[in-house]
Amino acid sequence: MQVPILDLKAQYETCKTDVIKAINTVCENQSFALGPAVADFEEKIAAYCDCKYAIGVSSGTDALIVALMALDIKPGDEVITSPLTFFATAGSIARLGAKPVFVDVEGDSFNIDATGIEEKVNEKSRAIIPVHLFGQLAQMKPITEIAQRYNLGVIEDAAQAIGASQDGIMAGNFGDLGCFSFYPTKNLGGFGDGGLVTTNSTALAEKARILRDHGQNPRYIYGIIGGNFRLDGIQGAVLAAKLKYLDGWNEKRGQNAAIYNDIFADSPVKIPSIEANNVSIYHQYTVTVPDRDNLHKYLSENGIGSAIFYPKALHLQDCFSYLGYHEGDFPVAERLCSEVLSLPVYPELTEEQIETIARAVLKFYGRD
Ligand SMILES: Cc1ncc(COP(=O)(O)O)c(C=O)c1O
Repeated sequence: MQVPILDLKAQYETCKTDVIKAINTVCENQSFALGPAVADFEEKIAAYCDCKYAIGVSSGTDALIVALMALDIKPGDEVITSPLTFFATAGSIARLGAKPVFVDVEGDSFNIDATGIEEKVNEKSRAIIPVHLFGQLAQMKPITEIAQRYNLGVIEDAAQAIGASQDGIMAGNFGDLGCFSFYPTKNLGGFGDGGLVTTNSTALAEKARILRDHGQNPRYIYGIIGGNFRLDGIQGAVLAAKLKYLDGWNEKRGQNAAIYNDIFADSPVKIPSIEANNVSIYHQYTVTVPDRDNLHKYLSENGIGSAIFYPKALHLQDCFSYLGYHEGDFPVAERLCSEVLSLPVYPELTEEQIETIARAVLKFYGRD
């Protein structure tokens, strides 16, 4: 049995009629950049995220850039974040001339360890970007408390966490701004790139809207320098059409994770650890395992897709060598980079497929 890490075609089959109808509307009205489809999506996604404002942008990366610009992050400023994340989190900080300052992660949740943040705060610190990795929120109470104490901005990198919550509050509502990605492989994926900035601040929402369109307000009058960070009309239409399926898809991912968890009990496979106050959307089902690289290869040879998020922590990437970090600086993140493996968890998987994958993993460890 062949099982890919993700099967977008299978998902398309479940929502095809709605999506084609939505795309067709944009073709008919020819509003390709922002326009009514994006406005409609923004209204729906703001309600879904339970936040006041949602601003559609061109990608999750651009959401981070817009959020950082909205907080006026400038060259020389320091922004604290996790070294175990997708490149864009730290890349966006560096692209604005600011300095990414890393704090190690928790071994269980894979998210930034809030207890390590305060010692990194100095007079140059301006913001914290917690990343809600794999669909589970970082612990936001201690993070926002530190931010308040030192007057730092908070930007949630919720690219992997649309629909996830903590203490009953949806991702994107804890910080000054929340950033989401609609890259096609995300739980809510577009038909191309797309992203979103959320906020409950009227002033920040206004600024983010202006920034995403070159800084113009009104038209052809530029008070601040922004960029072309606009969301396409077609993406807005597709995302709005898919949104009504999202809760069902997220729920199914949770059920799939539970099947794996049962089978992996009392085995060398450490299952994902979800904090008691979190509801995860299982963007990834990520286990930690011994002999990870050989398991990854074994699964591939047996037709089973799996993925490594991430093989190298950001503080050890060549492009960040100027920051002066060394191996051993963030031992938890570094260890996880050699132990994590994400298994297929997409909603359209059958129970039989999940069992086949899990049995193959156990067979690798001689546990038939
Ligand atoms: C944690 C995280 N941050 C930022 C991004 C950037 O999003 P995008 O690929 O839409 O630019 C991603 C997604 O790839 C991500 O996973």
